[in-house]
Amino acid sequence: MDFELDDALASLQRTAQRFSDEQIAPVAAAFDASGEFPRDVLKAAWELGLSHVFLPEALGGLGLSAVGACVVVEELSRGCSGITTSILSNDLGLTPILVGGTPDQQREWLAPCATDFKILAFALSEPGAGSDVAGLQLHAEKAGNDYVLNGTKAWITNGGEADLYTVFATLDRHARHKGICAFVLPRDTPGLSPGKKEDKMGQRASDTRVLHFDGVRVPAAQRLGAEGEGFKIAMTTLDRTRPLIGALATGIARRALEESLAYAADRKAFGQAIGEFQAVQFMLADMAKDIEASRLLTFQSAWLLDQGRRASKQSSMAKCFSTDAAMKATTDAVQIFGGNGYTKEYPVEKLMRDAKLMQIYEGTNQIQRVVIARELLRG
Ligand code: CAA
Repeated sequence: MDFELDDALASLQRTAQRFSDEQIAPVAAAFDASGEFPRDVLKAAWELGLSHVFLPEALGGLGLSAVGACVVVEELSRGCSGITTSILSNDLGLTPILVGGTPDQQREWLAPCATDFKILAFALSEPGAGSDVAGLQLHAEKAGNDYVLNGTKAWITNGGEADLYTVFATLDRHARHKGICAFVLPRDTPGLSPGKKEDKMGQRASDTRVLHFDGVRVPAAQRLGAEGEGFKIAMTTLDRTRPLIGALATGIARRALEESLAYAADRKAFGQAIGEFQAVQFMLADMAKDIEASRLLTFQSAWLLDQGRRASKQSSMAKCFSTDAAMKATTDAVQIFGGNGYTKEYPVEKLMRDAKLMQIYEGTNQIQRVVIARELLRG
């Protein structure tokens, strides 16, 4: 077992680290306060090869491994997880085209993402169907060689900013997962309109929206996979992207530990640095061990994917463990900072608000436990 990164990946890690320190962290608080979309930061990340990393080399991309993508995401997330969520949602948006698209569809829709900066979004969740994907209601009615889509998506990251959407709709609401189809839609498709931007607690630099579909006509050539294959395309996509959320969480937890170590060395109480107290030391030690465990689980799930092996259980374990660990680490960081930690003058309250979302999106941590338990019982 080799835990060292090879030279190429170590160099990419340094690039991501520098970008995070110089171009993400300094603007994180401002984007958190304004809720504006950090388009220029995203474009700069794309120009450096730190975004759209799953685009295959044959289509002009980097074709990064899942392990490589996790290395990049962890570094970016240390700077700001909200900005990083916007960056990695491009890979979430393009993965269904890699999973379900024909070579011609991949060339048509993905090759332009390597030459021009394009934002992507993955449109699966709905107002009444977040965890229960098979219960989604966006209706796709057949009309000759086209489909006509009517309904609403919700909680769509990059929803108001995307150039390209991968969208899941059902031909038959009673058929549950067997009725679902996946489509690729460009932004200017008539009848497709982003709705209200959510005013979120954390990760405020990411754009989260409702999407309205009002008689949206989609040619069959824009369907990914066969009719009824959409559910499996969505699940396979999530298996591939949940390790990235593990990496995102590891990045936040690392930042919480770094901030806490510096504060614990500096802040005095009862005549000594608070880091001298065992109560504080135990919180620091827990953060450090959970960061190591998060990274190992995340890399293991990514490595399985890179071997072409099924990784549903490990991806869910990585996502669930790392995001719970990040929630605990950021909450403890606020505790270590005390009253200061509860104010916006210090960076840790933002980390805590940002961490909460990771226990909810890409499948709640309750759903991750469902996936893990089913895989265990299946044997
Ligand atoms: N890979 C391939 N196939 C899979 C699969 C997987 N990981 N998981 C299930 N399937 C197959 C099953 O084998 C079954 O196939 P057959 O019909 O051939 O038997 C079929 O799919 C149906 O499977 P289930 O019976 O297990 O389906 P279910 O309705 O019970 O749901 C679930 C399973 C795990 C709860 C699923 O609905 C789920 O993952 N929900 C969470 C959704 C989610 O993660 N949403 C995140 C949205 S994206 C987001 O948040 C990103 C963002 O904006 C940042």
